[in-house]
Order: sequence, then structure tokens, then C-alpha cells
Amino acid sequence: MKKYIIGNWKMNLNVHEASLFATKLSQGLPIRRDVETVVCPSFVALQPLSLQVDHRQMKLGAQDCYWRDSGAFTGEVAATQLRGLAQYVLVGHSERRHIFGEHDRDIRFKVQAALRNGLTPVLCVGETELERKEGDTAHVLEDQIVSGLMNVGSDQIDQVLVTYEPLWTISTSGSPHVPQQHELEQVVKIIRSKVTHMFGREAGKAIPVLYGGSVDKDNARIFLSVEGIDGALVGAKSLIAPEFISIVEIASEIAKEEKK
Ligand code: 13P
Repeated sequence: MKKYIIGNWKMNLNVHEASLFATKLSQGLPIRRDVETVVCPSFVALQPLSLQVDHRQMKLGAQDCYWRDSGAFTGEVAATQLRGLAQYVLVGHSERRHIFGEHDRDIRFKVQAALRNGLTPVLCVGETELERKEGDTAHVLEDQIVSGLMNVGSDQIDQVLVTYEPLWTISTSGSPHVPQQHELEQVVKIIRSKVTHMFGREAGKAIPVLYGGSVDKDNARIFLSVEGIDGALVGAKSLIAPEFISIVEIASEIAKEEKK
């Protein structure tokens, strides 16, 4: 199965720096069929990068979108405005949920807005450290999946990606640590069985599920080898060209091994 490596640049790089960095990436990224490489720059860099990048090498994603298609929503960017600039959009990233107070309802509407506008939503789910300690991980994930995908049609579910990105693993949130392989395996099962429950067995099996949180070139193989994990959402290390390129290479190797 195809792997997905998505770089989330977060609020880093100005337009000029983003362009230079994309050039650097393009020099080290061969065109691959077995890995979908996506980078998510800030909104302001999307337009110039959409003209610059070779889409066979890397696709572009937005880090968020608003769910209304137009109107008096100062400061927001609608999915309609991302059409033609991005192919993917992150929805419900934990920083949106926890720093900016996004609720499941906003996230559900954003997933729909993305689909309505021909963008692939990458629905991010994950528990906090406290929820984990209290043994609530499964409930939290199930709620986030049900709520985020509630209004998705059965003919649309094949256009959605899910990323499991628990808060306690993100490199900039306190002192991150990463899940053990068996923990990740367990979580993937929870996510897939919820999708199966909502959309049927085929969808539960086929939906790409990514892992995010402190992914680097040294641990990428471990995460990408977990059964049911189809890719990675990379934060800090997506801003270091050789690291990001190595992660894409590792994904490609694993995709090839799986094909054998
Ligand atoms: P890090 O890879 O820096 O932990 O960030 C993860 C993330 O939030 C990607 O969206």
C-alpha cells in the first residue's frame, strides 16, 4: 500500500524561506509512486509554492481551513480559497484543538468543507497526557472519529486520511515521548474498527492511518512498520531537508518490502 509522508511546517518559514526550502527538498526527492509526499506550509506560502513545486515530487497541504465557503469571517481562509493551491488540508490538528479551542463540531464542518471543495482532509485525532493516564484513550479517539466523520458520505470516505497524533508525543509540547509499537498497534485497531463500524469493512481496512509525534529518521522505520500504519505526519523534522528526505526514503523502502 502507498505510504504518506506529510510535513507540517507549522508557523515557520516566510515566503522566501519556504521557497528556498522547497527547492532544497526537490533536489533530494526523486519522483516516487509508492510514497505520497506532502508539505504543509503556511497559507501565505501556498500560492507561490503551488507554482513552484513539481507535484509529482510533492503535493501541497494547508494546515487548516474554515468551513464556510465565503463571508464575513475576518482572518479565516476558506477551503474554496485553497482550491487549486493545495490538495490536502489538515483538520483538527491538536494545536488547533488545544491552543485555539476548536471543537469537534468545527472539525466535522471542516472535514465536509474540504471534501466539498475537492481537498483531501487529514483528520487529526489524539488524546492528551491526562486522558491517557486516566485510561480514556479509546473513548477520546472513538468520539473524535465519530464526530469528525459523522457527515461524511460512504462515497467520500475513500478521500479521507486519519492521523493519530497524541498530544504527549509532539516535540514542542513539554517533554515528549513516543508510543511503543504495541500501543500504536492497539490504537490503529481502535481507529479502524470505528471507521468499519461507520462505513463498513472495506473502508475500515482501506482508510490511510498515519502516525504523528516526534517522528524522525531514526524512529520512522519503527512507526511505519506497525501494522495498519500507512504514513507519518512530521513536524520539527520536516523543516530539516535531509531528515525529511530520509523519512520519505524509509517509507519507500517499507512500501517496496510490503509489495514483495
Ligand atoms: P513533531 O514532529 O515536531 O513532534 O510535531 C508533530 C506534529 O504536530 C505534526 O503535525
